[in-house]
Amino acid sequence: MDTQDHLDQLVADAESAFAAASDGAGLEQVKARFLGKSGLLTERLKGLGALTPELRKSAGARINRAKDAIEAALDARRVALREARLHARLAEEALDVTLPGRGHAAGGLHPVSRTLERIEALFASIGFIVADGPEIETDWHNFTALNTPENHPARSMHDTFYLEGREDVLLRTHTSPVQIRAMLAHVARHAEAQRMADLRVIAPGRVYRVDSDATHSPMFHQIEGLWVGEGVSFADLKGVIADFLRKFFESEDLQVRFRPSFFPFTEPSAEIDVAFMSGALEGSWLEIAGCGMVHPNVLRFGRIDPERYTGFAFGMGLDRLTMLRYGISDLRLFFEGDLRFLSQFR
Ligand code: FA5
Ligand code: MG
Repeated sequence: MDTQDHLDQLVADAESAFAAASDGAGLEQVKARFLGKSGLLTERLKGLGALTPELRKSAGARINRAKDAIEAALDARRVALREARLHARLAEEALDVTLPGRGHAAGGLHPVSRTLERIEALFASIGFIVADGPEIETDWHNFTALNTPENHPARSMHDTFYLEGREDVLLRTHTSPVQIRAMLAHVARHAEAQRMADLRVIAPGRVYRVDSDATHSPMFHQIEGLWVGEGVSFADLKGVIADFLRKFFESEDLQVRFRPSFFPFTEPSAEIDVAFMSGALEGSWLEIAGCGMVHPNVLRFGRIDPERYTGFAFGMGLDRLTMLRYGISDLRLFFEGDLRFLSQFR
């Protein structure tokens, strides 16, 4: 029979064996040696059967106390090993929290893109759909079909970027060639119909000219508008434009003027000026668009009968509208990519 000394020794052995185990798996093996089915302590419990009832009682109590002590030592070692593992991992994955962060500043839309989204939404609300065309355009779409004669100054090298070795294509100088593309596509869709449905499109995009100063950039943005149907008049043009400008600038007393002008592809024609309401240029006028009634020859190039249908068109400078809206006096700022300027529009 075991004395208390024997049991104390057994507990001490278990404690040092647990302490010697350096990981969880090792510890579980050591545990089996003491507490397993044929472990040292289990053997002793089995031995109780051979004792007299009185002896069995006191010996059983002693063995159970030793068992509790061993189990407590085992748990303590388990916790210690788990913590050691965690500390090792933390040390290994250590971060230098004193390093300055990389920063995730929110991006934002370019002011010209914001203008574009606004214009598309306003025109969509009155039934205009968005059309587009290529930036490398044929001479035919950009000039000929727009009733622009061979000797027109816009066709000169001083105004237009041509492509080396190609006579038939150029960088489009305005979005007006999309008028022709939209008419041809629309007519093709309504070839069978008795009466052609109204054509109402806007066509935003980049255009190119040999131009550079505070209100002219060699690459800039226009948005073309075209409405063709039966009985479309200049009064409709003025109404649509005036209503659009009031909504775009959120101002009822906006100063707008229509100035008689000339374009080969419209007759009559006008240019539209808007006065700055804020910024360094407050009170001065800026031309924002050309417009007019679509010339009968242009309708014919679009395979539309000018005896039956009329239409109006306009081409607005998106960058100019953006200048007016935010009171900016030099449009080249839009294309320099300087974040100090651009981040003001976030
Ligand atoms: C045209 O380009 C005609 N296609 C407009 C048009 C369409 C008339 C349909 C009739 C019917 P204009 O060259 O004036 O017209 O240019 C139109 C607008 O684009 C100008 O009013 C101006 O707001 C803008 N614009 C012209 N050149 C530049 C430039 N270099 N940089 C920035 N904006 C420009
Ligand atoms: Mg003009």
